[in-house]
Amino acid sequence: MSRGPTAPRGTRDVLPEEALARLHVIDVARGTFAAYGYGQIVTPTFEDTEVFVRGVGTSTDIVRKEMYTFDDAGGRSLTLRPEGTAPVARAFVEHGMHKRQLPVKLWYLAPMFRYEAPQAGRYREHHQLGAEALGSDDPLLDVEAIALLAEVYRRLDVPGVRLSVGDMGDAASRDPYRAELFAYLRAHEGDLPPEARERMRDNPLRLFDAADEATRAVMHEAPRLLDRLSDAAAEHRREVLAGLDALDIAYEEDGALVRGLDYYTNTVFEFTCDRLGAQSGIGGGGRYDGLVEELGGPPTPGVGFGTGIERITLALGDIGDGASLDCYVAIPDPALRDRLLPVLGRLRSAGLSCDAGWGARSLKSMMRQAAARGARHTVIIGPREAADGVATVRDMRSGDQAQVPIEDLGRELA
Ligand code: HAM
Repeated sequence: MSRGPTAPRGTRDVLPEEALARLHVIDVARGTFAAYGYGQIVTPTFEDTEVFVRGVGTSTDIVRKEMYTFDDAGGRSLTLRPEGTAPVARAFVEHGMHKRQLPVKLWYLAPMFRYEAPQAGRYREHHQLGAEALGSDDPLLDVEAIALLAEVYRRLDVPGVRLSVGDMGDAASRDPYRAELFAYLRAHEGDLPPEARERMRDNPLRLFDAADEATRAVMHEAPRLLDRLSDAAAEHRREVLAGLDALDIAYEEDGALVRGLDYYTNTVFEFTCDRLGAQSGIGGGGRYDGLVEELGGPPTPGVGFGTGIERITLALGDIGDGASLDCYVAIPDPALRDRLLPVLGRLRSAGLSCDAGWGARSLKSMMRQAAARGARHTVIIGPREAADGVATVRDMRSGDQAQVPIEDLGRELA
């Protein structure tokens, strides 16, 4: 046998056991989003590249080096969605959603594509659950977004979750601060590697995200935007932190938290999980009051978050054995083959999950399969049962057996 193709580097297949754990995560998140008044939005898997260049920003790693961008046969530049907020803002503008009752609250579940160095918890395709509330600058909405994500983790029982809250200020805080930070960096330019020197000209705040030691050391001493907030931005932050306190949501203030996207204003936040190792970020988000306008809409504030499903299932650990069956149907006699699908159909119509011994030859091997599949009951039909119009039903836990008329199977076992 020659070696066949494998999944592309940094992508992964989800097999049924893990898929079941994912479905649980999705179900819990969906229920929580509904409880907070969010409706689902589905946007395309690819967008015009411009959506991300304008939305996410040219100084970010995402736009500079991580996007899967290609020209289609019509010569149009398209990009596989690396994140969910810019597409939602694009859809908000395209559908004139500013005319709806504000804020418009939207959640999504979607694959995201980023050309990152793969490692545990970091993939080139990952799946995010996200929520965006567009059309209100109320700081309590920031609090509600954080509380919603905290509630998703609480309902899922994700262990070891911590919250950091930073602030990107408003334009009145950020513009003078950028100038001050740039001047500080110019004074320390000699200590910075070439990439950081190039980047500081584009957006000096991005250097807070740098991974290399030299830049980190310089940034450690850098002035912090948190200490330079305008009165309005400081008041916004005060209300957000007071709102978190009122809900008893624990947080740390983090003046170096800038997050990897350029659209943020005011509140930014990140949840980390101590079970995740190096890629400890389990979810994050913030306010983005300029994004909708950047994408051609009317000035519209917004706040939201995204959380990676793979990181949640990793944090939850044990993914279990997968789904077990209500019944396993064993009809070993080839002469009775025609009974199999009608019996399965009858059980399934009664709402039972069931499967059969496809390809197994003997009752013994079928019973082994039934046990391996975790079936609650095995339904056995041999020549004698068939002649009497009954099945032998075996309770797989107790080992008890009983004869049940075939037409009563659904009712008996449901
Ligand atoms: P982000 O922090 O880039 O934010 O991603 C959100 C979450 O997606 C992360 O916390 C992590 O759980 C997961 N994630 C990101 N990259 C990967 C990866 N390569 N492999 C596995 N999981 C990953 C955003 O994308 C923003 N759109 C969030 C947001 C929504 N901000 C406001 N609204």
